[in-house]
Amino acid sequence: MGWLFLLALAASAAGLPDLSTPRAAPEQPLPFSHKQHSEVGLKCAQCHPIPEPGDFATLPKTEICMACHKAVKKDSPHILKLAAWHEQGERIRWAPVYRIPDWVSFSHQRHTAVKDVTCGSCHGPVATRDVLQREKNLSMAACMSCHRATGASNDCVLCHDQR
Ligand code: HEC
Ligand code: HEC
Ligand code: HEC
Ligand code: HEC
Ligand code: HEC
Repeated sequence: MGWLFLLALAASAAGLPDLSTPRAAPEQPLPFSHKQHSEVGLKCAQCHPIPEPGDFATLPKTEICMACHKAVKKDSPHILKLAAWHEQGERIRWAPVYRIPDWVSFSHQRHTAVKDVTCGSCHGPVATRDVLQREKNLSMAACMSCHRATGASNDCVLCHDQR
C-alpha cells in the first residue's frame, strides 16, 4: 500500500463525522414507526430490498405504503401528506440515519449472507423502535473488531480501494 493511498484517504477524511458514538434521531418528514409497522407483521425485506449488486439496502417506494394507507388512517394529516406525495410521484425525503463515507467499500448482501449476522448486528433492535437513531457503532474500529471476531480479513484494501 502506497503513501499516496494513505494521503488520499487522510484528505477525504478531513472533517469526517465521528461514527463511534450514538447520534440523536434526525427530524423526519413523517412520524414513521418501525415498531408499529413490525407489529402489523411487515418484514424488513418488504420495505428494504437489496437489489444487485447488493451494496445498498433501499428505502421503500410510496406504492408500498399506499397499499395499506389508501384505507388505514387515511384522514390523518400525516397520511394526507403521504398520499399527496404519492399522487405527485414524489419520493419521501427521509433523513439518513446510518451513513459511512462513500470511499469505503461496503456490501449489505455480503454481510447478510454471513451466519449469525442480522440487520440488528449493525442497526440494533429496529423492530422495537418508534424512532430510529444511530445507536450502533459503525466506525472503522467497529468494522475491524467484528472482522477480527469472525475471521474476516482486515486488509486495508478490503474496505479502501487502492486509488
Ligand atoms: C413498512 C416499511 C418498513 C419496514 C417493514 C421496515 N422499514 Fe426500515 N425504514 C422504513 C422507512 C420509511 C425508513 C425511513 C424513516 C426512518 O428512518 O425511520 C426506514 C429506515 C430504516 C433504517 C435507516 C436508514 C438510513 O437512512 O440510515 C434502517 C437501518 C432500517 N430502516 C432498518 C430496518 C430493519 C432492520 C427492519 C426490519 C426489522 C425494517 N427497517 C423494517 C420503512 C420500513
Ligand atoms: C401492512 C399495512 C401498512 C403498510 C404497508 C404501511 N403502513 Fe403505515 N400504518 C399501518 C398501521 C396499521 C398503522 C397504525 C394505525 C393506527 O394507529 O391505528 C400505521 C401508521 C402509520 C403512520 C402514523 C399515522 C398517524 O397519524 O398516526 C404513518 C406516518 C405511517 N403509517 C406511514 C407509513 C409509511 C411511510 C409507509 C411506507 C413506507 C407505511 N406506513 C406502510 C399500516 C401500514
Ligand atoms: C455489517 C453491518 C450491517 C448489516 C448486517 C446491515 N447493515 Fe444496513 N447499513 C450498514 C452501513 C455501514 C450502512 C451505511 C451504508 C452507506 O453509507 O453506504 C447501512 C445503511 C442502511 C440503510 C440506508 C440505505 C443504505 O444502504 O445506505 C438501510 C435502509 C439499511 N442499512 C437497512 C438494513 C437492513 C434491512 C439490514 C438487514 C437485512 C441491514 N441494513 C444489515 C451496515 C449494516
Ligand atoms: C457483525 C460483524 C461484521 C461487521 C460489524 C462488519 N463486517 Fe464486514 N464482513 C464480516 C464478515 C464475516 C465478512 C466475510 C464475508 C464473506 O466472506 O462473504 C465481511 C466482509 C466484508 C467485506 C468483503 C466483502 C467482499 O465483497 O468480499 C468488506 C468490504 C467489509 N466486510 C466491509 C465492512 C465495513 C466497511 C464494515 C463497517 C461499516 C463492516 N464490514 C462491518 C463481518 C462484519
Ligand atoms: C473492515 C473495513 C475497514 C478496514 C479493513 C480498514 N478500514 Fe479504514 N475505514 C473504514 C471505515 C468504515 C472508515 C470511515 C469511518 C471512520 O473513520 O471510522 C475508515 C476510515 C479510514 C481513514 C480515515 C479516518 C481516520 O481514521 O483517519 C483512514 C486514514 C483509514 N481508514 C485507513 C485504513 C488503513 C491504513 C487500514 C489498514 C490497516 C484500514 N483503514 C482498514 C473501514 C475499514
